[in-house]
Amino acid sequence: MIFLPKTRSNFQCLEFDRVSPDKSLSHRSIIFSFLTQGRSEIENFLDSQDTYATLQIAKTLGAKVQKKNQRIFIESPKEIPQQANLQCLNSGTTMRLFAGLLSSKSGQFLFDGDKSLRQRPMQRIKTPLELMGASISSPYAPFVLRGNSQLRGIEYHSEVSSAQVKSAFILAALCANGESKYSEDELSRNHTERFLTHLGAKITHLQNQICISPLTCLLPSYKIKIPNDPSSVMFLVVACLISSCVELKVSQVLLNPTRIYAFEILKKMGAQLDYEVVEDGLETIGNIYVRSSELRGVEVSTHLSWMIDEIPALCIAMACAKGTSIIRHAQELRFKESDRIATMVLNLKQLGIEVGEFDDGMEIKGGEFQDGVVQSYGDHRIAMSFALVGIRRRIEVRGMECVQISFPRYFEFLKFFTDFKE
Ligand code: S3P
Repeated sequence: MIFLPKTRSNFQCLEFDRVSPDKSLSHRSIIFSFLTQGRSEIENFLDSQDTYATLQIAKTLGAKVQKKNQRIFIESPKEIPQQANLQCLNSGTTMRLFAGLLSSKSGQFLFDGDKSLRQRPMQRIKTPLELMGASISSPYAPFVLRGNSQLRGIEYHSEVSSAQVKSAFILAALCANGESKYSEDELSRNHTERFLTHLGAKITHLQNQICISPLTCLLPSYKIKIPNDPSSVMFLVVACLISSCVELKVSQVLLNPTRIYAFEILKKMGAQLDYEVVEDGLETIGNIYVRSSELRGVEVSTHLSWMIDEIPALCIAMACAKGTSIIRHAQELRFKESDRIATMVLNLKQLGIEVGEFDDGMEIKGGEFQDGVVQSYGDHRIAMSFALVGIRRRIEVRGMECVQISFPRYFEFLKFFTDFKE
C-alpha cells in the first residue's frame, strides 16, 4: 500500500527524514568502540540525556572523543583506569552494558543513577556476571562492580527477555576464557549481535541459543550513520493515525525486525501503514508510510520484548480504537523508567478511559478522551504518549522535561499534528 504524498486532495502530507537517531544504536556505537582498535566515526548520534550519560562514561574511562561536522570520532584508550565513578543518570542501557564490558577489566567501578534508575533491578545482570567471575555489590544501584580479567565462559538462560541483559552478557563473554552460550525465552532486540558480528566477532545462533567465542584480537574500527529510532517514530505514527486526514512518510527509519512489531500490531488494528526496506547491512533501514485510520481493538500477548518501548504509545492508539484491547505478558513494563502498567492505567483513567489492570498487562476500552491534567512520573515515554492526546483534547502533561531523555525535539514534530487539529 505504499502511497506517494498527495494521494488524496484533502489530506495534509508530512514528510520527515531526520526525526531522532536511534537510542539503542547510539549507545552501542560508543560502548563497542572499547572492543576496537583505531578511531571510529559516528554520524547522526542521538543528542539526548541517556546517550550523553554513555558518552561521559566513555570519556571517564579514557576514550578520546571529538565532535566535528555533526560526527563523533571516538578512540578507546590503551588502558582504562582501575577505579572510576560512573554516573548513568536515567539510562538502564548505559548501566547494564558498561557493567558487562567492565566485568573483564581488573578494577573497581562505582555505578550510580538517578532516583528511577536506582529502583530498577540489576540482579538480572548480577547473576550471570558473577557466575562468570565478576562481582557486583548490590542488586540495585549504587553498586560497585569488581572486574576479573580471568572471566569464565558459561552457559546461561535468562528468565527475562531483555536486550540489555543479553548485551551485558555478550560483552563479558567476548572477553572471557572459553566459549559462552546464552538463551532467553523470546528473542529480544538483536542490535548487539548484529553490530558485533558485522565487525567480525564470532557470535552464532544454534537453535534458540547464542554462542559467543572470545575475541582473539581487537575488532576493527567502524563508521556508522545512525538511522531514525522506530520507538520515537512510533509517537509520530500514532499521532498521524489518530489525526484526521494526515499522511506521513518518515525515511531513514531503523526497520530491524525486532523493533517494528508495534507497527505490525497497529496494522492489525486497521492502520493504513506500510514500510519499504532500502538498506539491509549492519542494520535494516527504510521508509515508513502512514495514513490517518479508523482503528479497532486488538489482543497482544506475544513478542512483548519487541515492542516494550512502544506500548505506552500503543495504549493511546488502543484508547482511540473501536472496541476493547488487551495486553498480556507485559510484566516487564513494571521495571522500566516507571511502572508503566500502573502509570498508563492511572493516566488513562484520569482522562476518562475505561481501563482494567492485570499483573502482566491491561485491558483498554476504546472511547473518547476527556480534557484533563496527567503526570509524566518522570518517564519520557509516558510523557510523550499523553502529549499525543493533545491532538484531540485539551491536555496538560506535568513533568514534560523528561522528553530530553530520548527525544529532545519531540514537540517540534508533534506541533505539525496539533496544528492540523480541527
Ligand atoms: C534497550 C533494550 C530495551 C529497551 C531500552 C533499550 C537496549 O530494554 O526497553 O529502552 O538498547 O538494549 P530490555 O530489552 O532490556 O527490556
